[in-house]
Amino acid sequence: MKLNIAVLAGDGIGPEIVAQALRVTQAVAKKFGHELHSTEALVGAVAIDATGNPYPEATHEICMKSDAVLFGAIGHPRFDNDPSAKVRPEQGLLAMRKKLGLYANIRPLITFPSLLDKSPLKTDRIEGADFVVIRELTGGMYFGEPQGRSEDGNTSYDTCIYTRMEVERILKLSFEFAMKRNKRLTVVDKANVLATSRLWRQIAKEMEPQYPEVAVEYMFVDNAAMQLIQWPKRFDVMVTENMFGDILTDEASVIAGSMGMLPSASIGIHTSVFEPIHGSYPQAAGKNIANPCATILSVAMLFEYAYSLGKEAALIRKAVEASLVAGAVTEDLTDDKSKALSTSAVGDWIVDYVNRVER
Ligand SMILES: NC(=O)c1ccc[n+]([C@@H]2O[C@H](COP(=O)([O-])OP(=O)(O)OC[C@H]3O[C@@H](n4cnc5c(N)ncnc54)[C@H](O)[C@@H]3O)[C@@H](O)[C@H]2O)c1
Repeated sequence: MKLNIAVLAGDGIGPEIVAQALRVTQAVAKKFGHELHSTEALVGAVAIDATGNPYPEATHEICMKSDAVLFGAIGHPRFDNDPSAKVRPEQGLLAMRKKLGLYANIRPLITFPSLLDKSPLKTDRIEGADFVVIRELTGGMYFGEPQGRSEDGNTSYDTCIYTRMEVERILKLSFEFAMKRNKRLTVVDKANVLATSRLWRQIAKEMEPQYPEVAVEYMFVDNAAMQLIQWPKRFDVMVTENMFGDILTDEASVIAGSMGMLPSASIGIHTSVFEPIHGSYPQAAGKNIANPCATILSVAMLFEYAYSLGKEAALIRKAVEASLVAGAVTEDLTDDKSKALSTSAVGDWIVDYVNRVER
């Protein structure tokens, strides 16, 4: 099969982790006889520096022409520490999501047996946890207008808006996901306070009869934040709005042991984007110490979602798992930093595994 992938490495650790993920993609493509064609493009602070635009039109065109986008991360302290900056790397991420119509971010969370002791949570609570958070990605407070500050600078405001169409399409996807899994769906909202949440809840209840096999529960986001770490095994598919999903999935990363382990797929109207859930981790940029596994596992999702190539995806997951079992891990996953491998050495280990195991 011909694989035509856009590669947007972005800022901070983005180029380092994406380089390893791309090597794994190449190794898997070779092993299974696929023809890989990848095209690099700018996004984030590096795109601002080069073009003044964090998501240049040329990048968008490359994404639109590709089957899938492999994305690293955006964000730079230069902008984080300058709230008055008019053009910001995050605008590039939001523009990409909007222009590609990426309304759903799918974040699977599983525990790896060899990492159970890396989580600050008790093993018996997290062992076997296996759920998916579906985060709405193009609505809510991150996109709502008006957003701004009063002239005297003493008042600021954001707007949270959701339309029926936006809510229906993400709930439909979530019900369908639940049907393919264990038929349990948790709708997370703040319907006791927020009007947008009440719309979500009303629409979810209207849709329930279409999926009689799915057991639906409704949970306030504050309660969900607690239950996620208290009893994560109770969840199967969780759906929630943009900001709640952003926060809850970072929280959920402690179950897996590190932010560096969680992949995601952003899907919608045009080309899908595959990206780790973490950011550009600027403190580690250029040091070759960041964990590349979230990005490598995002490539597994890319094979599965963009091409329906399940065997390729399974091999990548097997290789990552094997590297963890072998202790071939970066410093976020080891107590003894002297035993930690570099980002590229973990990439070497995984590529070597892919090359030498049976398909
Ligand atoms: N999708 C994105 O591109 C995205 C997402 C979140 C934040 N950001 C941006 O990233 C920058 C830094 O934000 P932040 O510090 O809040 O979030 P971050 O995810 O970059 O880092 C938070 C912490 O998670 C850990 N971590 C993250 N990635 C890791 C990896 N691959 N290996 C090991 N440990 C890892 C580190 O301990 C790090 O201090 C900001 O500019 C922010 O706007 C971008």
